[in-house]
Amino acid sequence: MAPKVYAPAMRIAALIAALALAAPLSARAQSTPPNRPAAPAPATAAPIRPVGTMSELMVHVIRPTSDAVFYITSRTPSTSEEWTTLQAQTLMLAESANLLLLPAHARNRAQWIADTRLMLDAGKKAFEAAKAKDVAALEALNDALYQSCVTCHEHFRPGYGKRPGH
Ligand code: HEC
Repeated sequence: MAPKVYAPAMRIAALIAALALAAPLSARAQSTPPNRPAAPAPATAAPIRPVGTMSELMVHVIRPTSDAVFYITSRTPSTSEEWTTLQAQTLMLAESANLLLLPAHARNRAQWIADTRLMLDAGKKAFEAAKAKDVAALEALNDALYQSCVTCHEHFRPGYGKRPGH
């Protein structure tokens, strides 16, 4: 008889004990001094929701923004507004390499990361050159940027090489 009576009370006691244990843990996590590395965030902490497909990212973001670099000699900005636009385009290009690293987009990890890295490096340099309004530097980046597209497409784009265009 006795165990039946006490069992729910004991379960509640165990629950309270568990909460008591958990509370100082979360309090400690919140009061982590800034000079100590924070514990890794749980997977649920950053609710990232990709919006576009890989193909949409390529067509609507990566191709037009990279074209701004590929056509730098024929579409050289001449006003400060045009330079601001180019700065925005190259920033978007560089940051879209980071978007490609989202779990929803990333493929075979090591190779994919290496390939996005090429685009991130070229895009970051393009952004810096656009901020410096350095046309020659942008022109010089064309090959590295183009190679970054081709390298990943050879590895991951279905049917790549069987149709024209990059
Ligand atoms: C890290 C890998 C990666 C990089 C870097 C990359 N791409 Fe892609 N790209 C892909 C994949 C994968 C596809 C196929 C997407 C699909 O069909 O689902 C693709 C497809 C495309 C397409 C065809 C989209 C369509 O559906 O018609 C274009 C255009 C394109 N990429 C442009 C570029 C350009 C320009 C660059 C370089 C500035 C680039 N990509 C860099 C992975 C990459």
